[in-house]
Amino acid sequence: MQLFHTLRELRAFLDCQAGKRIGFVPTMGNLHAGHCELVRQAKSRVDIVVVSIFVNPLQFSANEDFGSYPRTLQADCDQLRAVGADIVFAPAVEALYPDFNGQDLQQQVIVQPPPLADILCGASRPGHFAGVATVVTKLFHMVQPDLAVFGKKDYQQLMVIRALVRQLNFGIEIVGVDTKRELSGLAMSSRNGYLSPEQKTQAAQLYAQLQQLRTALESGRRDYELLCQEAASALKQLGWQVDYVEIRAQQDLSLPGPDQTELVVLAAAKLGNTRLIDNCEVNL
Ligand code: PAJ
Repeated sequence: MQLFHTLRELRAFLDCQAGKRIGFVPTMGNLHAGHCELVRQAKSRVDIVVVSIFVNPLQFSANEDFGSYPRTLQADCDQLRAVGADIVFAPAVEALYPDFNGQDLQQQVIVQPPPLADILCGASRPGHFAGVATVVTKLFHMVQPDLAVFGKKDYQQLMVIRALVRQLNFGIEIVGVDTKRELSGLAMSSRNGYLSPEQKTQAAQLYAQLQQLRTALESGRRDYELLCQEAASALKQLGWQVDYVEIRAQQDLSLPGPDQTELVVLAAAKLGNTRLIDNCEVNL
């Protein structure tokens, strides 16, 4: 496995790989078993897997955790070597934001995501998905992969990326991978590291509520609003600050009608200062 910090090194390597299929897994580092699963899925489909590690300032707003986001490059590389990644691309901010002046990114060209980026997480994190769409566009231009792998853990992000690739004609196959979980059901996340041991135990309640909603839907309930209100109040009772609990159509995250059979239940809530998200697909 090779580690590159500059685009020049990355391209020098990739330009010599004519005829090989390139797979790409973009990440912000502090890797866990969920990220590793994405690499395995990529590896099973292509010849060469590139993993990027870049904490993208453009997708964080001023009050969020960009400064404290864990940066663990050495440990990340050890894990990536073990799962068979070929290249780690860990660029500096200047490499992705050429007009960065040390204070301001000066990124005036922004990739505007579709309206589905304005609901759910997009409503509470204005500009977040534009930041994601912009950096993923840059990374796609740099890596020029045949295929890229994303987690369903960030369900709305995956849908934004699919729209980006389709509407900007990237010609990259996008693979969505199921969420990797702790035994407790808690979705693995770099942000779980912010939780105290007690909070980590409590954090499993989020997925437990989503599963209860799935069971209710499977047993025939279609009063979506009431179901979500019940789940949100249960979480509040347990000490969570709930951002949203929503039942949506898998296809476009629109509000589903009673006959919709492909649903997804999504939630975002805070435990203390840590914002966690999770979701679960329900196929009726
Ligand atoms: P990051 O949060 O590091 O996640 C990188 C990829 O890992 C994403 O596709 C995410 O959905 C996936 N992932 C995270 N936790 C997972 C889990 N428990 N199971 C399966 N997959 C999981 O998402 C980002 O970084 C950034 O927004 C990025 C796309 C890199 C753009 O900056």
